[in-house]
Amino acid sequence: RRRIGVLTSGGDAPGMNGAVRAVVRMAIHCDCEAYAIFEGYEGLVNGGNMIRQLHWEDVRGWLSRGGTLIGSARSLAFRERVGRMKAAKNMVLKGIDALVVCGGDGSLTGADVFRAEWPGLLADLIASGELSPEQVEPYKVLNIVGLVGSIDNDMSGTDATIGCYSSLTRICDAVDDVFDTAFSHQRGFVIEVMGRHCGWLALMSAISTGADWMFLPEMPPKEGWEDHMCSVITKNRTERGKRRTIVIVAEGAQDRQLNKVSSSKIKDILTDRLGLDTRVTILGHTQRGGAACAYDRWLSTLQGVEAVRAVLEMSPESPSPVITIRENKIMRTPLMEAVQATKDVTAKIDKKEFDEAMKLRDPEFKE
Ligand code: F6P
Repeated sequence: RRRIGVLTSGGDAPGMNGAVRAVVRMAIHCDCEAYAIFEGYEGLVNGGNMIRQLHWEDVRGWLSRGGTLIGSARSLAFRERVGRMKAAKNMVLKGIDALVVCGGDGSLTGADVFRAEWPGLLADLIASGELSPEQVEPYKVLNIVGLVGSIDNDMSGTDATIGCYSSLTRICDAVDDVFDTAFSHQRGFVIEVMGRHCGWLALMSAISTGADWMFLPEMPPKEGWEDHMCSVITKNRTERGKRRTIVIVAEGAQDRQLNKVSSSKIKDILTDRLGLDTRVTILGHTQRGGAACAYDRWLSTLQGVEAVRAVLEMSPESPSPVITIRENKIMRTPLMEAVQATKDVTAKIDKKEFDEAMKLRDPEFKE
């Protein structure tokens, strides 16, 4: 019986448990055994009790649970070859030669490196006497399949990452809550949202909540943005009678512009120039926790099933795939192509879509 390992890595995301559940159950359905690797790559490096078989009933009820029940870590040990050698040894000892990794682009790249090194790692383990050629023989080929689990929706080649719509829903709920108190006191709020280098959560939440202004890493503000922002907000409050002002700031928008933009600077502008009583709200990790929304439960289930299919259909020569969704179809894409495309487009955004969204908010918006 083949043994398939599954792990979650990097920042947790709602839906990761659904993905693990689907991998476990599909593996069992296909007459394989499923092994959970606890605490991400740390579990692989440490082995022992951190790699455990999961049965059908072990994952019961996991669809609705937030976070990742098998744990996650940003493993430093796995970044070193020594750590990856330990990981390879543990996998051979447990009889696992296929891994489904659910994480962001960094975690998935790590998995692909591991696969490329696998023959060399096994050779070194034999040479150092840690494993015998007989022990290694059945596990000469390592199969890796990626699932993109991240709230940031920052991977190219897929329309949605597991967790992004749950996080977006959570952000919208939080902004709605802030609206109530902002309305009551006629205040301004600068709301900082996650997303690392990607503005998807900020853009989508700004559109979904009808925010007055937003800052995205992909669209650094132009010269004179302070005047433009203030004039739109003034118009919204006077001519349009808005009692509350919401500005959404992507965390990455601040990193990139080297302090040209920061939540506290925006707050000061609204306070000093418009006399607006303004507060800063950083939503933080509330955006990452909580139950997965229906879409993420559905997506993680279908993608988990597809990941096991991919493991069983892969040939030693085929590049490691990542399971994606495009135009509502679950697909396989070469993992490293998706990672490379992500790097290439990090600084870009569909400008037309952006301009249209801005015009909805402000008919006089230009560019
Ligand atoms: O990648 C997910 C994410 O939540 C990002 O949006 C954020 O920048 C980062 O992880 C926070 O990481 P940590 O939980 O390690 O502080």
